[in-house]
Amino acid sequence: MAFKKIVVGYDGSQYANNALKKAIEVAKCSNGEVYIVGVIKPIDFGIVDYITPTEIEEYEKEEISKEEKYLKEAIKIVKESGLKAFYKVLEGDPSEEIMSYADEVEADLIVVGHRGLGGFKRLLLGSTSSELVKYAKQTVLVVKS
Ligand SMILES: Nc1ncnc2c1ncn2[C@@H]1O[C@H](COP(=O)(O)OP(=O)(O)O)[C@@H](O)[C@H]1O
Ligand SMILES: [Mg+2]
Repeated sequence: MAFKKIVVGYDGSQYANNALKKAIEVAKCSNGEVYIVGVIKPIDFGIVDYITPTEIEEYEKEEISKEEKYLKEAIKIVKESGLKAFYKVLEGDPSEEIMSYADEVEADLIVVGHRGLGGFKRLLLGSTSSELVKYAKQTVLVVKS
């Protein structure tokens, strides 16, 4: 079976970069398309007593533009390989957002690293990748190197 629409969860970590490289290799075999998704954290209302709607908007704008910056770098890498690439910034829980994006674009493969930016060093499999393996409808490729 050829994987035509490939979603890559990208958090800017070296692990996610490795996942992106593997996704490109897979996409090359099937002339597939690569959909890169970055999920940002929603604002933490616990940090301050009162946040104005303008401040929320500013926070989101800033986070989205930071995220877009490195997603665009990732897009460049994919396009240099001669493949079609798309990106999306979403806000919320990483595994949930990656899954709903994969459903939305009708992906047939999700590619992620085995670890990411956060988490504990001793964990062999990060929380996002393990949730995806458990709950995603699509085939999941967890890249380990
Ligand atoms: N916020 C995110 N947005 C998009 N992809 C993510 C995000 N967080 C993690 N991923 C993907 O999941 C992989 C594993 O990360 P994760 O399970 O969160 O590990 P950790 O617990 O070490 O952060 C990453 O390499 C990346 O491919
Ligand atoms: Mg993480």
